[in-house]
Amino acid sequence: MGDSDRAAPTADEPVATAFEGLGGEDGVRVLVDHFYDLMDLEPRYAGLRALHPAALDGSRDKLHWFLCGWLGGPDHYVDRFGHPMLRARHLPYAIGVAERDQWLACMGQALRECQVDDGVAQRLIKAFFGTADWMRNK
Ligand code: HEM
Repeated sequence: MGDSDRAAPTADEPVATAFEGLGGEDGVRVLVDHFYDLMDLEPRYAGLRALHPAALDGSRDKLHWFLCGWLGGPDHYVDRFGHPMLRARHLPYAIGVAERDQWLACMGQALRECQVDDGVAQRLIKAFFGTADWMRNK
């Protein structure tokens, strides 16, 4: 896995992994579900929503499986699909600054509304920025 594919915990972090900080698999699922609920409902994420399939069930499962591993928990995504190759898998979608910023705003809102611990949320927002920015392809 490349550096950009993983939010590596560092030695001085208060919880061992962001995965634990979020409350494990169930906590990650709550966050992912809220992220896609917001994307579906909020008009300000309509551009981002339009890139996704009509039914979001597959997207929910894939992001959940991916984040569990990326945040330091079990590697469900890799077990099913192999290397994430996230940038390559996003090439079919035109992603610029606007799309990146909608994704990050939607995730930021989900983190706030799921009442994720501030320290964990700050770390995640930084890690998400790096990955989302690296996904830009236009
Ligand atoms: C930069 C803005 C982003 C946009 C516009 C975007 C958009 C999309 C779209 C349209 C899909 C396809 C959904 C589907 O097939 O159901 C997708 C899949 C996915 N996205 Fe993103 N995404 C972004 C950032 C991210 C970030 C930051 C992450 C992880 C931290 C991520 C993780 C994933 C994963 C794991 C999949 C499933 C890939 C697969 O197996 O096909 N995305 N994304």
